Amino acid sequence: MSVTPRWSRKKPHFPLLAVLFLVFISCSILYNEFRIQQIHESPDHGSASGTQRTSFTFVKPNLPNGASEVLDRFRSCNSTKSYSGRKIRWADPDSESSRRRSTRQESCDVFSGKWVFDNQSYPLYQESDCPYMSDQLACHKHGRSDLQYQYWRWQPHNCNLKRWNVYEMWEKLRGKRLMFVGDSLNRGQWISMVCLLQSVIPADKKSMTPNAQLTIFRAEEYNATVEFLWAPLLVESNSDDPVNHRLAERIIRPDSVLKHSSQWEHADILIFNSYLWWRQGPVKLLWSSEKNGACEELDGLGAMELAMGAWADWVASKVIPLKKRVFFVTMSPTHFWSQEWEPGSEGNCYNQMRPITTEGYWGSGSDLPTMRMVDKVLSGLGSKVSVINITQLSEYRKDGHPSIYRKFWETLNPQQLANPASYSDCIHWCLPGVPDVWNELIFHLL
Ligand SMILES: *[C@@H]1O[C@H](CO)[C@@H](O)[C@H](O)[C@H]1NC(C)=O
Ligand SMILES: *[C@@H]1O[C@H](CO)[C@@H](O)[C@H](O)[C@H]1NC(C)=O
Ligand SMILES: *[C@@H]1O[C@H](CO)[C@@H](O)[C@H](O)[C@H]1NC(C)=O
Ligand SMILES: *[C@@H]1O[C@H](CO)[C@@H](O)[C@H](O)[C@H]1NC(C)=O
Repeated sequence: MSVTPRWSRKKPHFPLLAVLFLVFISCSILYNEFRIQQIHESPDHGSASGTQRTSFTFVKPNLPNGASEVLDRFRSCNSTKSYSGRKIRWADPDSESSRRRSTRQESCDVFSGKWVFDNQSYPLYQESDCPYMSDQLACHKHGRSDLQYQYWRWQPHNCNLKRWNVYEMWEKLRGKRLMFVGDSLNRGQWISMVCLLQSVIPADKKSMTPNAQLTIFRAEEYNATVEFLWAPLLVESNSDDPVNHRLAERIIRPDSVLKHSSQWEHADILIFNSYLWWRQGPVKLLWSSEKNGACEELDGLGAMELAMGAWADWVASKVIPLKKRVFFVTMSPTHFWSQEWEPGSEGNCYNQMRPITTEGYWGSGSDLPTMRMVDKVLSGLGSKVSVINITQLSEYRKDGHPSIYRKFWETLNPQQLANPASYSDCIHWCLPGVPDVWNELIFHLL
């Protein structure tokens, strides 16, 4: 401790005993902080058996709380203090379901494999044939002329994926509601699913409700719907408006999914995602019990862990595996730094036309601590949830993003236009493209 001598110099008559005492105090503070961090990095959900964790307050999530005000985009924090350390304790998953998961585990890992060029069977539909295509994802329409990104098949190492069959998929969906819940990446996957499915339904037998928080594609003959619910942070938040969510601060209710679950609880098949919205800096927490609008502030990963806890509580207490299927889609990678796959280069996904072929390539956009946290939450839920682990396979697809070939809502200035990489979208995915394969994985596992 180099601090002590300087102190001693300033206060020469400071008693030695007091100095030792102070050193002891600061050491134990440091030790405790480290321990908190450790707990923070490897949360132990649901079980209170540990001895160190008694210092945290555990909150039971998803309690109906009629008194708490609606959290919408006009809401702001009355004040903000630092995080109190409150954690979510979700319903204990029964040990039986965990056991069933391990026996159900497939022998083949469909998420481990490689991309194979296949212009015979791909794309599975034409961009211009899908009336529900989004201008954010229609890359060919917006000027992309290299179309190779549409021609790749995912080939698992040790088995084959079930061949996509649109009629078989509709039979699986007959009389059911399939709902995607999440952010714009999940919305892209929903559009992909609608495009994959819609071609065999006559125009007068299908419909799409206008864009709202819940958007519904309906196919009459099958009495089935394919829906999308905008809930980028899973829990209730000030960003739940599907259009107006560019806000200065993110406020979440870390202990409640009730606002959203009331919309998703009657779906038969649920596909969740959440990731990138937690990567934009600290998040404000507005606990349900807080009556004066006072918020706490927490880093994105910590906040996501709380939200995943509230979500997991709903899954653990409400999902009966034989009646409802729940999928969680892992983080979708971004490709903003070409130096990561091509050392020395300075670009991003712009002008990338081929997948990465280095087995196991992993970019810095896919956060490993987040993956570990998600891993832990999902394994605690046993057979109640199936993981769609798209991260590694999508990591290879630096060629799959819209880059400049999409509609941009804001006007681009001349400097931007002179440097296309500066405004490239390396987050979302062109359609037809990578999300079609995510949906083939769902088809395979359904
Ligand atoms: C598929 O790709 C090969 C090689 O690039 C090319 O020769 C062939 O014409 C393509 N076939 C179709 C149907 O596009
Ligand atoms: C259509 O599906 C809903 C469930 O989504 C079900 O309640 C209803 O009975 C079905 N109707 C027919 C005619 O099968
Ligand atoms: C903000 O805090 C004050 C004092 O604690 C309280 O009177 C007021 O109602 C709070 N405002 C909101 C919106 O909760
Ligand atoms: C997803 O796959 C990666 C390897 O590609 C693995 O490290 C990670 O634990 C998996 N995540 C989940 C939630 O299964």
